[in-house]
Amino acid sequence: MTTVLRAHAEDQYAEELAILAKDDDRARPPGWKLSPWAVTSYILGDGDRITPKYIGPRRIVEVAVATLATDRALLLLGVPGTAKTWLSEHLAAAVSGDSTLLVQGTAGTAEEAVRYGWNYARLLAEGPSREALTPSPVMRAMAEGRLARVEELTRMPSDVQDALITVLSEKTLPIPELNEEVQAARGFNLIATANDRDRGVNDLSSALRRRFNTVVLPVPGTPEEEVDIVSRRVEQLGRSLELPEIPAGMEEIRRVVTVFRELRTGVTEDGRTKIKSPSGTLSTAEAISVITNGVALAAHFGDGVLRPSDVAAGIVGAVVQDPVSDRVVWREYLETVVRERADWRDFYRACRDAG
Ligand SMILES: Nc1ncnc2c1ncn2[C@@H]1O[C@H](COP(=O)(O)OP(=O)(O)OP(=O)(O)O)[C@@H](O)[C@H]1O
Ligand SMILES: [Mg+2]
Repeated sequence: MTTVLRAHAEDQYAEELAILAKDDDRARPPGWKLSPWAVTSYILGDGDRITPKYIGPRRIVEVAVATLATDRALLLLGVPGTAKTWLSEHLAAAVSGDSTLLVQGTAGTAEEAVRYGWNYARLLAEGPSREALTPSPVMRAMAEGRLARVEELTRMPSDVQDALITVLSEKTLPIPELNEEVQAARGFNLIATANDRDRGVNDLSSALRRRFNTVVLPVPGTPEEEVDIVSRRVEQLGRSLELPEIPAGMEEIRRVVTVFRELRTGVTEDGRTKIKSPSGTLSTAEAISVITNGVALAAHFGDGVLRPSDVAAGIVGAVVQDPVSDRVVWREYLETVVRERADWRDFYRACRDAG
């Protein structure tokens, strides 16, 4: 028997969702599995039975959840690695019990991906019929009254984006070939994500923008918050990848977060030294993968403790994306900031060895 590498949120957290559903006595919007209050508890965590999924301001999650209960769709906007995809998956899991109705936006996304396509063998054999039609995830979400997810909305060509206007304003999807339509069942809505860095690639038309409520996901406000996010996610990932257990290595996590925050903001934590920022994003998501890689190195090749040498290569790899300009930035940071910190000696040496 094989087990999946990464379970869907609704499967992985089935137990928590069941607990919340059992105790949930608040009003549920039509088609919802949980009340908005319980959805928020699922996302932010509640006591020891419900683990936090998203770590951030409560108000942001409340606004996002409330939006989904209205006739407007939800647009999660933010710089890379601010958990837009992560939050949208968990929202869909909690509201509809299904996070799989997903359209990935790319430059090559065709209209069939948001409307419907055809099974050409059947189309030729039988002519247009409901059986020959292949529904898109959006169409299925409408028919079943669930949440559909559109990833990277602004990467899709504008005409494909605009196919969503009728869906969102009329809540119907016409099928002219059959002289029919699919009307959205109650419970249908849409969550889209878009990356701040893609702004201007295929900006939303104003007609479409007006159908969305935009919620901007912030980068973690304080180092403590970011350390908390990284250590929780590293622990969860390590468990699901079944990496050998090794002590959390708080010191290294704090260090990676400090390095990333300083390079991201262009100034040291004490506010004294200005530094240049590299071209890469250095988001929380990258910090999580640097530490997870370090844990794998320490567990399989080290002495079972997360050491500076286990994270150094990962940090250098994350920072130096452009082999010329980023290398200069990194060298300068290493020599002017890292080297001067007395308790960072091992780390300085490990970084030098790593490149
Ligand atoms: N505030 C946060 N709370 C919980 N997890 C977070 C937070 N910020 C980042 N993460 C973690 O970072 C990882 C990346 O998040 P995700 O892929 O959702 O980012 P994204 O905003 O969709 O990025 P992109 O723009 O590159 O698509 C996830 O594992 C997520 O758990
Ligand atoms: Mg994403």
